[in-house]
Amino acid sequence: MSFPSHDAPRAPFASLSFARIVTVTAAFAAFAGSFVAPAPALAKTPPPKAVLDASAVAMPDRYSADTAQQIFAAGGHAVDAAVAIAFTLAVTCPDAGNLGGGGFMTVFMDGKPYFLDYRERAPQQATRDMYLDDKGNLVPGMSLVGHRAVGVPGTVEGMWEAQQRFGKLKWKQVLAPAIRYATDGFQVDQGLQQRHDAAAKSFAGKTNFEAYFSNLKAGVMYRQPELAQTLSRIAGDGGREFYEGRTADLIAQQMYGHGLVTKQDLIQYKAVWRQPLTANWNGYQVVTAPPPSSGGVGLIQMLKMKADLKPAFDGLELNSEPYIHLIAQIEDRVFADRQQYIGDPDSYKVPLDKLTSDAYLAQRADEVKPDEVPGATPVKGGLGDVMPEKAQTTHYSVVDKWGNAVSNTYTLNGDFGSGVVVDGGGFLLNDAMDDFVTKPAAAGTPGATADDLNTVAPGRRPLSSMTPTILLKDNKVSLVIGTPGGSRILTSIFQVMTNLYDFNMAPTDALAAMRFHHQLLPPKTIYFEPYHPITGELADQLKARGYTLEGQSFNGDVQMIRVEGTTPEPAADPRGVGVGRVMH
Ligand code: DON
Repeated sequence: MSFPSHDAPRAPFASLSFARIVTVTAAFAAFAGSFVAPAPALAKTPPPKAVLDASAVAMPDRYSADTAQQIFAAGGHAVDAAVAIAFTLAVTCPDAGNLGGGGFMTVFMDGKPYFLDYRERAPQQATRDMYLDDKGNLVPGMSLVGHRAVGVPGTVEGMWEAQQRFGKLKWKQVLAPAIRYATDGFQVDQGLQQRHDAAAKSFAGKTNFEAYFSNLKAGVMYRQPELAQTLSRIAGDGGREFYEGRTADLIAQQMYGHGLVTKQDLIQYKAVWRQPLTANWNGYQVVTAPPPSSGGVGLIQMLKMKADLKPAFDGLELNSEPYIHLIAQIEDRVFADRQQYIGDPDSYKVPLDKLTSDAYLAQRADEVKPDEVPGATPVKGGLGDVMPEKAQTTHYSVVDKWGNAVSNTYTLNGDFGSGVVVDGGGFLLNDAMDDFVTKPAAAGTPGATADDLNTVAPGRRPLSSMTPTILLKDNKVSLVIGTPGGSRILTSIFQVMTNLYDFNMAPTDALAAMRFHHQLLPPKTIYFEPYHPITGELADQLKARGYTLEGQSFNGDVQMIRVEGTTPEPAADPRGVGVGRVMH
């Protein structure tokens, strides 16, 4: 059985990879040679020129770094590596890597930026109030655990689409490392066991999670034979097998009578190439995630507002109390706009140009005051009422020696998603439905319109914070960056970029520096992280200003590659078990 690729946009011939052009040229030479003798030597297409000293990756685990190395050794480029890595992490990082989730891929290929949206979608039978009981109250946990939490998965279609459009290696080649890890096993580490144990408790009695994952214990060689079979079917029959073949039947069977995803939903699922969100900042072109992510807009807003506030920031020590206070005020405005204006662009016209324009952000920055009492002035979306116009993820960064790059963030949403495993398929399904507003404000409630952007509707994509980002300088890759962390994604990336560019830190120092998180709600709350807690005098100063300090268990796992001249410098977040690797 084989599934034809669907009719999403394809690269024009001019942008076909070198390998394909060589194949065509060689075939023509052989053909021509049999008729014309002696043939003048045909001009050979020059081999692609390496523009960097090496390829490099920043990966959330060592297995995916090994996969990247194999793909580069086989002659693959950044997209080949990215697709192979996604399938590998679906095996070795089952809490976040996935087949049953979705995500976003920002690509820079042959000198041009692209953005692939393979976010999950609400099933056709989904309704606005599907998580409410008869009295209009939210049914606890329903959007987080079990079958009804599951959105239509996009990952396999996303990888298929990326590989079909850009891939140089064969589809089977990029799936081979994942199949090997699923068949032969990988060694479970302490962190994965801990996340497993916590998830097993919350899924107990509600899903079939432990029937599959009870053996996920530190030190064990963990094998997943059913997952290996699923991957082999996808490798043999193409990405649409997941949506139209036996895997689709297994998903539909798993859902039948419990959840809303049907075979029809799967057949209809399409990944979407969108215009990446771009902005000029600090001499760079920022290429990042457009809606349905709020992350790109938020990142650009933060970067530009901070630049506008340069006089206020001048001389302030990184992460000093007045510094954190100014950033928190910027973040209030970013999250107010996020709540009010950003949703699925296929449902609403998101005012992207306005939200990221220099004039608007200068005006918003002007509202930020060093002596403002936190929470004293309510912060609302800054564009007025334009809207009626109607916590696990993983990130990796790749550059190849030809100057191409991929920044990819994908997710099951929570650790191990909904906890529902597809029987016979061996993979977990997401709980992305929880990224919708699951308890919409009642009609007529003042301010209710803000939530309408992101209520559950058939086929809609839930609002996301995932922000896979690439920075270009003179149209060459300068930084590839991203992280998991829900709404902490954009604030984490912003802080690391600030450390790099405003404080001139080396990549490893920029990652190791303290991070904090603040968003509009809960008001006046600064979240600190276990890796570098806010204590002592700094804590006292923030409290004296009126902030509440809250601990959080996770503040991102940033994977980034900076390119200095022709040298890629990968760096993995010391908060996780990631690996930066340069491959000559
Ligand atoms: O799309 C989003 O923004 C969330 N589903 C991402 C969740 C996440 O990053 C959890 N990570 N720790």
